[in-house]
Amino acid sequence: MRFTGLISWIAYREGIALMKMGVRIWFCMFLLAHCVPMTSCTSFTGTILYSTYNAIMEFDIDTGNVTVLVEQSHYVYAMDYDYKNRFIYFPRYNSDDIVRFAYPSKNRTLQRVIQSLPYPSGIAVDSTNDHIYWVAEYAESLLRCNMDGSNEIVLSTPSYPFVIRLDLTNRWMYIVERNIGILKSRFDLTEKETIANFVSSTVYCMDIDTAEQRLYWIRHDNGDMKSATFNGSDVKTILSTNSANNTYAIGVLGSNVFYADNKQLLMVAKTPGSTPTVLYNDTSRIDSIYVFNQSGM
Ligand SMILES: *[C@@H]1O[C@H](CO)[C@@H](O)[C@H](O)[C@H]1NC(C)=O
Ligand SMILES: *[C@@H]1O[C@H](CO)[C@@H](O)[C@H](O)[C@H]1NC(C)=O
Ligand SMILES: *[C@@H]1O[C@H](CO)[C@@H](O)[C@H](O)[C@H]1NC(C)=O
Ligand SMILES: *[C@@H]1O[C@H](CO)[C@@H](O)[C@H](O)[C@H]1NC(C)=O
Ligand SMILES: *[C@@H]1O[C@H](CO)[C@@H](O)[C@H](O)[C@H]1NC(C)=O
Ligand SMILES: *[C@@H]1O[C@H](CO)[C@@H](O)[C@H](O)[C@H]1NC(C)=O
Repeated sequence: MRFTGLISWIAYREGIALMKMGVRIWFCMFLLAHCVPMTSCTSFTGTILYSTYNAIMEFDIDTGNVTVLVEQSHYVYAMDYDYKNRFIYFPRYNSDDIVRFAYPSKNRTLQRVIQSLPYPSGIAVDSTNDHIYWVAEYAESLLRCNMDGSNEIVLSTPSYPFVIRLDLTNRWMYIVERNIGILKSRFDLTEKETIANFVSSTVYCMDIDTAEQRLYWIRHDNGDMKSATFNGSDVKTILSTNSANNTYAIGVLGSNVFYADNKQLLMVAKTPGSTPTVLYNDTSRIDSIYVFNQSGM
């Protein structure tokens, strides 16, 4: 399974419009025409997971099909995947715990990994080192434990941290201090630096694009989607047309950014000024997005 970049995404975007017209056969032929160097057309596939207060959902970006993976009733502001042992991990904000379920799997029973400090919001998995990192918003803490919940430790006390993402290749962590900016530091907490300033806004979502070494986030006050390099330079506004109402979820994949605006799941090209596409209208607010990389399996 492989995402082949711009061509596929153009094909995909064309495909969406065409499928709306019901011209599915044409869509397949269009893809075939662009799939020659690939082993087969099934390579063009992808999955977005997202959470609402009621469920963890799977959105198939090829078909637009939406599946309930897990029914639940918690605020879930982040998810991350352990590509080695194949579990989705997520914190339950109003249960003060972290749970996981096997994915892909028919048995998606939730297992509690650890219960700890109140209001856990962000999570990131480092399966190479058997570690889970998470942040607890109102406990103002960055924590770490092993993937079975053992060896819990409070690593630091950031200001109202909400999101954590790890660049596992270059060994940097990026933490959203929701009212301040993005804190970049080594996994051992050395070389700490605030690299993006939210300028009197609040931010509840951020994702890292390891391929192009950029960060993406959405301002909660006006809905602006922003991007900067991994060192905080070259800040760009990707989008400034959101409703500024409940933007909690973002995930980068290839040349697109997937995000939520209240109950809508949308996609927009990374190029500033592009027009977003509504992918799905849920009946509940979308609280987090996780882009599942099928090539990572
Ligand atoms: C999409 O979901 C529907 C209903 O669950 C199913 O019948 C259909 O086969 C699915 N389509 C694909 C392409 O998976
Ligand atoms: C499903 O998974 C749970 C948790 O891992 C396990 O306890 C249970 O035995 C499994 N059920 C089946 C039917 O395999
Ligand atoms: C920051 O990153 C940009 C692009 O990645 C690079 O051109 C610039 O030199 C970097 N600046 C510093 C201070 O490292
Ligand atoms: C904002 O979202 C809430 C639900 O979370 C909804 O009740 C309200 O109507 C929305 N406001 C606007 C201006 O869209
Ligand atoms: C989502 O809802 C909007 C109206 O709020 C509608 O215009 C749009 O077509 C819907 N999109 C999808 C993919 O269902
Ligand atoms: C997906 O996983 C593959 C294999 O681990 C990796 O080479 C690729 O960079 C990943 N893609 C993204 C967008 O993270």
